[in-house]
Amino acid sequence: MYPVLVSLDPPPGKGWNWALELVKKLKDKVWGFKVGWPLIIEGKENLEKIDSRIVLDLKLADIGYTMRNVISRLRGDAVIAHAFVGYQTALEILREETAKRDMELYLVVSMSHRGSKEFIDRHVKEFIKLAYLVADGVVAPATRLDVLRLVRRYWPKTIISPGIGAQGAPPCSALRAGANLEIVGRALTRSDDPLGFLESYYAQCS
Ligand code: XMP
Repeated sequence: MYPVLVSLDPPPGKGWNWALELVKKLKDKVWGFKVGWPLIIEGKENLEKIDSRIVLDLKLADIGYTMRNVISRLRGDAVIAHAFVGYQTALEILREETAKRDMELYLVVSMSHRGSKEFIDRHVKEFIKLAYLVADGVVAPATRLDVLRLVRRYWPKTIISPGIGAQGAPPCSALRAGANLEIVGRALTRSDDPLGFLESYYAQCS
């Protein structure tokens, strides 16, 4: 199984049928699937049809009460939340709920787009400290390997890393810099041959 978390972001005009076809094709080859708002808005009941690991990419950033209210309505093995909302009456409550539901919690400590440098990246180390209190894993970018390596130095558990392909980072580059899983969306899901894509890039990665 390749250390890839497939990001199921449907192109315009496509939805769950498109996503479930990809799941059928790829589920035995990849670690799991990341589902975000575009698909959830089109029918959260379809999450039941994904017979693989599901990471809910909700980028939660709210008071604890509301974050709990959102995830208690969804099925998934893990959920992504923002770190900047802080611990007290926010992430502490989300943590309680994820633990109760046997879900993992991943915190965003840096993002793959350039704007991450404007605010978020000024606080990476503080976010990692917070992750020690609440998280099972963190999200850190493949597009800035210096940041990813810094996160690896301070964070011993799971790192999942977006930015491969469409955002410019080459496949395997984040794994080599210390990530545990690469998040791959468009480059893989919109390829004419997704299985071939995986095999050509990930068969000789490590
Ligand atoms: P592509 O098509 O660019 O899709 O491979 C990437 C997917 O990952 C999401 N994304 C992020 N998620 N932190 C996150 O938690 C990030 O820094 C980040 N950057 C991209 C993006 O929304 C898409 O679903």
